[in-house]
Amino acid sequence: MIKQNTIEQIMATVKVEEVIEDFVSLKRRGVNMIGNCPFHDEKTPSFTVSPAKNIYKCFGCGKAGDSVRFMMDHDAMSYPESLRYLANKYNIEIEETVNTAEELAVKEVTTSYYIINEFAQSYFNNSLFNTNEGKSVGLSYFKDRGYNESIIKKFGLGFTTSDKNDFTKTAISKQYNIEFLKKLGLTSQYDNDFFRSRVMFTIHNLSGKVIAFAGRTLSQDKKTPKYINSPETDIYNKRKVLYGLYFAKQSIRKEDECIMVEGYTDVITLHQYGVDNAVASSGTSLTVEQINLVKRYTPNIKIIYDGDAAGVKAALRGLDLVLEQDMNVRLVMLPDGEDPDSYLKKVGIEEFRKYLKEKEQDFLFFKTNLLLAEAGDDPIRKSKVLKDIVQSIAKIPDNIKKQLYIQKCSTMMGISEEILIGETNKVIKANQKQQHFRNKRDQPNHVDDSTFLNQKTQPYGTQIGPAKQVVTGDDYQEKDVLRILISHGNLPLKDDSEMLVCAFIIDSVKDEIQHFDNELVKTMFTMAIEQFNANGKIDINAFTSSNDEQVRLLAIDFLADPYIYASWEEKGLQFQTQKDPENNQEKDAIQSIKRFLFRKQGKRIDQLEIKIKELSVTPGSELDLIRYIKAYRIVQTQRTKMAEELGSVFLK
Ligand code: UTP
Ligand code: MN
Repeated sequence: MIKQNTIEQIMATVKVEEVIEDFVSLKRRGVNMIGNCPFHDEKTPSFTVSPAKNIYKCFGCGKAGDSVRFMMDHDAMSYPESLRYLANKYNIEIEETVNTAEELAVKEVTTSYYIINEFAQSYFNNSLFNTNEGKSVGLSYFKDRGYNESIIKKFGLGFTTSDKNDFTKTAISKQYNIEFLKKLGLTSQYDNDFFRSRVMFTIHNLSGKVIAFAGRTLSQDKKTPKYINSPETDIYNKRKVLYGLYFAKQSIRKEDECIMVEGYTDVITLHQYGVDNAVASSGTSLTVEQINLVKRYTPNIKIIYDGDAAGVKAALRGLDLVLEQDMNVRLVMLPDGEDPDSYLKKVGIEEFRKYLKEKEQDFLFFKTNLLLAEAGDDPIRKSKVLKDIVQSIAKIPDNIKKQLYIQKCSTMMGISEEILIGETNKVIKANQKQQHFRNKRDQPNHVDDSTFLNQKTQPYGTQIGPAKQVVTGDDYQEKDVLRILISHGNLPLKDDSEMLVCAFIIDSVKDEIQHFDNELVKTMFTMAIEQFNANGKIDINAFTSSNDEQVRLLAIDFLADPYIYASWEEKGLQFQTQKDPENNQEKDAIQSIKRFLFRKQGKRIDQLEIKIKELSVTPGSELDLIRYIKAYRIVQTQRTKMAEELGSVFLK
């Protein structure tokens, strides 16, 4: 694990504008910088970066955070990956907490695997470009296929000669561990090279590290397998890998679409022609893990099938799981006998793109058409089709989408919407029942459903836009106090005072925390009090870098108030009589707290009234009744006084 003081050092060093400018071009706008949002498509920039606050926020789509968050969202990095990336960018040495022996061993092995694969890749690359066999067989094969040198280098293509064990011998002479070479599938059981006389494809993980290889034979012999692949290892799980994703991820995000093809060679050809949002599931049918990888970048998948109908039907069945993930799936079927690689080379890029546009079909409609055509007029087969389609529709989580599909499929199948809805509901109910039993089986100490609903933290990437909360009772006042605490908490209350705004606010409000209506505000206040007790001030970073998305988005909402954000000078406005809100913390804080306490007292009075009514009809409680009436009068008087003060504050 990365040590806390390293994290602190990273946070203190990184400049959000420098991190973001590697990916987005930013222009100065007053105290801020703005650019086109990398997370959604826009023509007028609403992506705002505040160097002073070290945060960004898009006023278009609501994405917001700090440098760490930016890399996590932009490059789908994990939290530690993002920290490592930033540390590397700023030459900060990473200190790690001491790992257990077991952890160290695993880490050592995976590090060795990466190093060995890196070596193998450069060895295969060298064989391609610098050996006679490589040049005459491998390189000319790639050239014949139309690959240019830059795409060959980019994708790390290579070649293995017919030599029995030159690779393994070289590796051993460089002190690489023979057991690791075998585990990685580079060396056979008998210490010979595993890949021989093949052109080599390198498989990368999301951060560009080499995790596996695939070798394609150039022999026409039917008995030789066309491709052989590295075995699965600690660093390679083929269900979790999409070939080409490392090179495609930026483009997938930008195009807001992922193009899925079947073969390695298809991906490379598409990229060479500029269709660089293409990836391949390489030989396996699509897995949930692969879909979730794509989902980090876009909800839209376009699958291009080779032009042979046989495989397509089987593949369609697997696609229901894409629907479950709430992805939009479109399919394109290529003409008979073509794959993306061959067809693109045949017709050229413009024709190819046009074909995709014209021929793409929604997955479910595609499936419905295909199955209906097969069933013909046979009523029994038609009812099977209906069952099959209904199964698919039931998997769609989004109700509006579900409804639209039902409408369209009802027309396609000539069956009334009511029947389709009825059938879909049956399936949903049956699925729920099954799920219920499964839950019960998996969790003997059955957890009440409500705990699930109350869960505050949400997985990354599920929610787009600002944090949503239900507005209740004193929501507005509570939030307003929190807003001032976070946006101005560490400023002095008055120009000449020693007291900080946070001290004043916390002191005034701390007794009310338990009575807060808004749970999120309560959580954040509690965080602030802990920070204040520990350090005498608020740690803004802890909010803007929080892993709890709701906490982070609300904090950034406060800091990036669009009203404050629109820089004052820039609008050419001169405020003679009024300080801009940035410098008005004292009045702001006092007024907000008064309003807040005023509301809370109102509530207390309501409660006291109820109690008094209760006691007045309960025999033998006269003494209590008197005490409550006294309290009631005191609070009433306080409140009236406060109303007067508030009035005067409002009037000023
Ligand atoms: P294809 O047979 O369509 O190969 O298999 P291709 O990639 O188009 O190759 P060319 O154009 O004939 O040179 C599609 C994908 O299925 C996997 C590979 O990922 C391949 O890219 N596959 C195929 C294997 O893993 N093993 C095989 O023996 C065949
Ligand atoms: Mn092919």
